[in-house]
Amino acid sequence: MPEQGRTRARILGTGCYVPEKILTNADLERIVETTDEWITTRTGIKERHVAAPDQASSDLACEAAVRALDAAGVKATELDLIVVATVTPDTFFPSTGCRVQDRLGAPQAAAFDLSAACSGFVFGLHLLRGMVETGVAKRVLLVGVETLTKITDYTDRGTCVLFGDGAGAVVLGPDSSGPGILSSRIGSAGQYGDMLCMPGGGSRHPATCETVKNRLHYLHMKGNEVFKLAVRGMEEVSRGVMEDANLTPDDMTLLIPHQANIRMITATADRLGMPMEKVFVNIHKYGNTSSASVPIALDEAVRSRRVKSGDILGLVAFGGGLTWGATALRW
Ligand code: UT7
Repeated sequence: MPEQGRTRARILGTGCYVPEKILTNADLERIVETTDEWITTRTGIKERHVAAPDQASSDLACEAAVRALDAAGVKATELDLIVVATVTPDTFFPSTGCRVQDRLGAPQAAAFDLSAACSGFVFGLHLLRGMVETGVAKRVLLVGVETLTKITDYTDRGTCVLFGDGAGAVVLGPDSSGPGILSSRIGSAGQYGDMLCMPGGGSRHPATCETVKNRLHYLHMKGNEVFKLAVRGMEEVSRGVMEDANLTPDDMTLLIPHQANIRMITATADRLGMPMEKVFVNIHKYGNTSSASVPIALDEAVRSRRVKSGDILGLVAFGGGLTWGATALRW
């Protein structure tokens, strides 16, 4: 039964946006030595969306944010905080959050970026849950956005088939009537940082002709190693948030996992003993959109009415850092 009276952070509205241009597996067959058959069977991806040359992450983020604000019935001027989870910001600084704040017209909101790669959105939910529950923030916009195709090496077939661009957003606020975030956990393992990274452009390897020549400004990934850790990590953190909220996999209405690889999703569901009918999958349309993947999937689940009032949802992600996190919530 919903526990009434306790203030929880509740998702008041969701929104998402993906750029118009689509890159299909057939298109990739013309760019690198790959096949639609390999990509489909090894990853589940059929196509992904690609930002236009003049589209930056804040442009995608604003589109998703406007839709989430509209769904929540909240005006931009009512926001007191804007958090943008991204590893592909418009610029190192100012933050993409500040660009979004300006474009939305939310002068009273503080804004910043959060860097936790594919786990960025669930890291954001964990952080903001605390702020909303304690009254530190009342109307919060959380966006997961990436333009990963801008840092994708289209000569590396091991990574270039995987990633796409997009944005997903939610508006959070306090609620004492039952629904809201029930539990959340996050975790990190920095010793595996080099498994999934962009080596160049920071203070370790500032941009030089050499770093460009050595392709250090692209995303690098040891996919196989990440894969194994990700499946185990997503299972463990999902079990953790269920335990915290006194839930079992049977109690979950829908699991919305990070969309990185269909084999990772089915393996995680399998280990949790959850049938695939209770798992949301849209990887075939978007590929891996990193921090945008969970909020895009959540928005699609909500708008297609796969999520109904009272449903218990699990959100779970794993990514560079390495990082992982999960959220259990009552809709
Ligand atoms: O967002 C969170 C972080 N990211 C992830 O979680 C991604 C996790 N990893 C993965 O999804 C998978 O590891 C990949 C899809 C990246 C790779 O799949 P895999 O089954 O682990 O393949 P592999 O890297 O072990 O490569 C197997 C073979 C290799 O050929 P050989 O050495 O066996 O002859 C690769 O060269 O597949 C080859 N290969 C390809 N062949 C055709 C790798 N990429 C491609 C490709 N097309 N695009």
